[in-house]
Amino acid sequence: MTRLDETVLGPFANEPVLELRRSPVRAGLDEALTALDSRLPLNVPVLVGESERHGEELASFDPGSPDRVVAQAAVASASEASEAVAVAERGFREWREVPALERARVLVGAAAWLRERRLELAALEVRECAKPWIEADADVCEAIDFLEYYARAAVALDSGAELVQVPGERNDMRYAPRGVTAVISPWNFPLAIPCGMTSAALATGNSVLLKPAEQSPACALMLVRALRAAGVPPTAISLLPGEGEVGAALVKHPGVQTIAFTGSQPVGLEIVRAAAEVSPGQLHIKRVIAELGGKNCVIVDADADLDEAVPAIVSSAFAYAGQKCSAAARVLVHEAIADRLIERVAGAARTLVVGQAEQLSIDVPPVIEPSAQERVERYAALAAREGRIVARAGGVPESGCFVSPTVATDLPPDSKVLNEEIFGPLLALERVAGVEAALEIVEGLPFALTGGLFARDPATVREVRRRTPVGNLYVNRGITGAKVGRQPFGGNRLSGNGTKAGGPDYLHSFVEPRAVSENTMRHGLVV
Ligand SMILES: NC(=O)c1ccc[n+]([C@@H]2O[C@H](COP(=O)([O-])OP(=O)(O)OC[C@H]3O[C@@H](n4cnc5c(N)ncnc54)[C@H](O)[C@@H]3O)[C@@H](O)[C@H]2O)c1
Repeated sequence: MTRLDETVLGPFANEPVLELRRSPVRAGLDEALTALDSRLPLNVPVLVGESERHGEELASFDPGSPDRVVAQAAVASASEASEAVAVAERGFREWREVPALERARVLVGAAAWLRERRLELAALEVRECAKPWIEADADVCEAIDFLEYYARAAVALDSGAELVQVPGERNDMRYAPRGVTAVISPWNFPLAIPCGMTSAALATGNSVLLKPAEQSPACALMLVRALRAAGVPPTAISLLPGEGEVGAALVKHPGVQTIAFTGSQPVGLEIVRAAAEVSPGQLHIKRVIAELGGKNCVIVDADADLDEAVPAIVSSAFAYAGQKCSAAARVLVHEAIADRLIERVAGAARTLVVGQAEQLSIDVPPVIEPSAQERVERYAALAAREGRIVARAGGVPESGCFVSPTVATDLPPDSKVLNEEIFGPLLALERVAGVEAALEIVEGLPFALTGGLFARDPATVREVRRRTPVGNLYVNRGITGAKVGRQPFGGNRLSGNGTKAGGPDYLHSFVEPRAVSENTMRHGLVV
């Protein structure tokens, strides 16, 4: 049977990325950046329903040139957050009545809006988050993918679940939206992550209050503009820029039913704790979707193809300056090939070009802000004291939030460098007696987001698949770059509560099931 969503909307396909090697494409990027620069700083208002309040309480800046202010944003006050919940409750009652297929069409319209402006959006990510072009373009494509994918998935979900039927009764189960959803997002995928959580909530008929990361309010504004331009009622999507307090106020509010959070582990755990408290007037047990940080390990067996492993490890560790939640942080290498791998990874890391995100020739851009720069430097100094630094790339620009990509080895097992998420361009290499010893380490970690394996023996691959607790395991390839629909993404253990963004069951977190059983043998009016 052909699915309704595919009949009407066509099959889902990932948005093709730009071919950056073509000179007309590159010229388009330059033009988009020049046009954007002439409009800076942008203004990001608090958007609650139809109301729009401008302000300059928060600034986002270019991490590569901190003097360049990218956006001036208003910060939502406690009373605006409260007012936004009331507006979203109204918005929810309206939006849930829109048929699923109509909602899906609106989301597909928002995807088209983003697609038409993809160069402008990528340029904004280059400036606001120092995303290199290739990463910025991939982020825009992923945002489009989330809209297209969840639009279709929500139509399929709307038809309900198949139940056992017996004579005399009719059973059905439908999925209803839960209500007001607070979306709290990080800066490292400044369009795709808020878009994924927001579009999943909207596709299933919830209303959304979006609290974006303080580092990337302008990217979030573009998402809200896309959704509203495509037909999401302003009451169903509000924008509440600000720092953590704005998110915390939404989490506590009795009128918020669902919290979709992506960010660091400490903040995620605090949200889970706060959401467990029931306030007067609250009608729901709040649901928290928590997608948190990792400490991602790549296992390299003695028979691995190092020509494949070395570039994949280097790009997984250092692309976007190691600021992807999926980035490689530790390599556990079989002692038989450890010297060769360490030498080659160190050699490759030394040649990495560090520079401004807009330069197509760079490998590693700056980190997001001065505090991140200080944090990574602190861990690098600790690695030098407790172990041995085998590579540090040179040529790092002096101003801007740049950190030299660093490779460390010989660290003691209890080193913080091995056990805490650093979220920057610092990779630790460790010798292990074999795959079994590597698995013992991986199985003992509280983090379980992504992981990798380089090995040739199918029996080794089977064993690592069976025992690795991570949400996303990548075999004989890099460990970043999950694609919507192809690699549903999300972690386990303290890295997340098991939801899979871009996967077939993600939307279940945004709905509540309702089963109805009707006696069809009743007496009385014949229908
Ligand atoms: N698992 C995933 O899919 C995934 C994806 C991307 C990023 N991450 C993780 O996100 C982190 C980087 O992002 P970040 O620095 O923006 O994270 P963060 O936790 O500092 O902030 C995330 C969001 O939470 C808000 N916030 C801060 N304190 C809050 C509070 N007490 N209550 C409610 N909201 C609060 C912030 O303002 C921001 O909007 C890394 O740990 C990374 O691994 C995970």
